[in-house]
Amino acid sequence: MKTTILIAQSYGQADVLEYLTQELPPLAKGMARIEVKVSGINPIDARRMTGEFRHAPLPQAFGTEFAGVIAEIAEDSGKWSVGDEVLGSGASFTHATIIDVPVENLVAKPQNLAWEVAGSLAGASQTAMTILDEIGDVNSLLIQGASGGVGSIAVQLAKERGIEVVATASARNQDYLKSLGAIPVVYGQGLIDRLKEVHPKPFDASIDMSGTEDATQAALASVKPDGIIGTIAGKKVSSPRVQAMWVKRNVNNLKYVVDRVADGRFKWEIDDVYSFDRAAEAYENILKGHTRGKSVLIF
Ligand SMILES: NC(=O)c1ccc[n+]([C@@H]2O[C@H](COP(=O)([O-])OP(=O)(O)OC[C@H]3O[C@@H](n4cnc5c(N)ncnc54)[C@H](OP(=O)(O)O)[C@@H]3O)[C@@H](O)[C@H]2O)c1
Repeated sequence: MKTTILIAQSYGQADVLEYLTQELPPLAKGMARIEVKVSGINPIDARRMTGEFRHAPLPQAFGTEFAGVIAEIAEDSGKWSVGDEVLGSGASFTHATIIDVPVENLVAKPQNLAWEVAGSLAGASQTAMTILDEIGDVNSLLIQGASGGVGSIAVQLAKERGIEVVATASARNQDYLKSLGAIPVVYGQGLIDRLKEVHPKPFDASIDMSGTEDATQAALASVKPDGIIGTIAGKKVSSPRVQAMWVKRNVNNLKYVVDRVADGRFKWEIDDVYSFDRAAEAYENILKGHTRGKSVLIF
C-alpha cells in the first residue's frame, strides 16, 4: 500500500511544500492504518513550515489530527476492526492519504458527525481541556483570541463550568463569540478600557491565544494580582507573570468534546475546506491567524 505525504525539505513560505509518494512498511504492533478522509490544519503546521520552530528536523511532515476509516489493523488491536470510522490525534503526521496511528489514540466517529468536523477537533479540544483544567476553579475568565479553534472550544467549556467569560476577537467575529456564550470585546487600541467597561472587577484568570504584546498588557491590567495569566501562543512574553501552557493529549478529553459537538451542545465552525492538492493555499491562509473555528484538508 502506498501513501502520499505532504512534506517540506527546507523552511519557508508555502512554496516549500511538496508531495512524496512512498510504499508503507508493514504495520507495527499496536497500530491502525487509516485511510484519511479529513485532517484539520492548525497554526502549528504552518509555523513549523516557516521554521519558527527550528528544532523540527528536515525534511518534515505535517498535521496532528485526522478522521478516517481503518484500512488495516494490527492483531493486538482490541475493539477496533477494518472499516471502522475513527478520529483522533496522529502519531507523527496526518497530512497524508494513509497514516499509521497508535490504537490508543482512536475515538469512534459518531455517525452524525460530518467528516470535516470529525477531522478537525482533536488538537483544539485537547488544548482547550488542558487550559480549563490548569486554570482550575474560577468564576471569571478572559479569553483573548477566542474565535479560532482553541478559543471556540475553551469558551464553551468554560461556560459549561459556570464561568463568566469575556472573549476577544476582531469585529467580524463579535456575533460568533456571543453565540458561543461569551461577552465579546474587539481587540486592538483601547482594549483595556473596553474590558473594564464590560467587566469592571478584575478577572480571576486569563488565557491568550494570540501571543501579542497588547494581549499581555491587557491581561496584566485586567487579572487580579494572584490570578493565572496563561498563554498557549508559544511566543516570547514580556512578563514573568505570563505562564506558558502546552497541550496534554488525553483521548478521554477529546471524547468529552466530540460527544458535545455530536449532540449539538457545542458549536463548531468549519471555516474553509481545501482539497489535499491545495495544501499550500491552505497553509498560507492559516499563517494569517484569522481562522474562525478550523480549516481542513479533505482527501
Ligand atoms: N501551546 C499549545 O500546546 C498549543 C496548542 C494549540 C495551539 N497553539 C497555538 O495557539 C494559537 C491559537 O491556536 P488556534 O488554533 O486557536 O488559532 P486560530 O484558529 O488561528 O485562532 C487565532 C485567534 O486569534 C485571534 N487574533 C488574531 N490576531 C489577533 C490579535 N492581534 N489580537 C488578539 N487576537 C487575535 C483571531 O481572531 P480574529 O480572526 O477575529 O482576528 C482568532 O480568534 C496558535 O498560535 C497555535 O499555534 C498552542
